[in-house]
Amino acid sequence: MPFVELGEERIYYDHSPSSGRRVLLPIHGSGGDHRCWPEVLRRLPATAVFTPDLPGHGRSTGSGRSRVADYADVVAAFAERLGLQNVVLMGHSLGGAIAQSLALRSPAWLAAIVLVGTGARLRVDPAILDGLLGDYDAALDLVCESAFGPQAAPALVRAHRQGLRQTPPAVTHDDFSACNQFDIMDRLGDIRVPTLVVTGSADNLTPPKYGAFLRDRIPGAQMALIAGAGHMLALENPAALLGHLSAFLDARVTPP
Ligand code: COA
Repeated sequence: MPFVELGEERIYYDHSPSSGRRVLLPIHGSGGDHRCWPEVLRRLPATAVFTPDLPGHGRSTGSGRSRVADYADVVAAFAERLGLQNVVLMGHSLGGAIAQSLALRSPAWLAAIVLVGTGARLRVDPAILDGLLGDYDAALDLVCESAFGPQAAPALVRAHRQGLRQTPPAVTHDDFSACNQFDIMDRLGDIRVPTLVVTGSADNLTPPKYGAFLRDRIPGAQMALIAGAGHMLALENPAALLGHLSAFLDARVTPP
């Protein structure tokens, strides 16, 4: 299994190789891991895809981070250690906050960002934030009740909840704390890379209003709304996300 050693931590990544020049780096959201990106989004034609588990999540060792900037440091170190270039950074929720932070730093390896179910400010319901350190199961129930659109299959919601349950409560709490402090609403105009925003029309955690704000403030950004999908839109409707992602890669990023 592939790992990158960063200091004391071993960062696991799912890898789909390609001889082409396109590189996609998807970053999962709070309490998740690489499996929050369905296989169809991790196996793109003519594109090398590196899908890590953030530290403390999934198969990665180490601890969570309670600031988005600290997670951004990890992702930057991961990309640089692997020598990645021309990277399209795709982030969901917390991962989208990490992608925005890195876009503001504009490292040489970053070509574009895809912001999925996220926002420039991510205040978290105190019932979730406090609950994660109290009754973890009740807090996860609360998260999962809000995280899916009305058409999501119950089995999909159950499987996602089981995945979240495997992440240590302190790590998931760190993730939501990092989101809760995140606010770059007044800095979006400084983002200079091509940007695609994708939001579910039924997202209760990061509603379409958040996506529209990103589209309106990031220069040249475009937005796609996925009808009926909730916050976990990559799991709920991977085909729709794949369609928007592929069109964006073809039109705005390097040809395969
Ligand atoms: N993009 C655009 N607008 C945003 C925004 C974003 N990322 N984040 C907040 N806003 C807007 C809100 O819509 C609100 O506008 P309004 O005054 O016109 O209604 C205003 O900014 C302030 O909102 P917020 O920062 O959320 O503070 P609040 O005190 O009104 O509400 C919560 C705080 C926690 C109750 C609220 O954010 C909430 O219900 N969150 C639950 C969703 C959640 O937990 N998401 C997890 C994200 S990872």
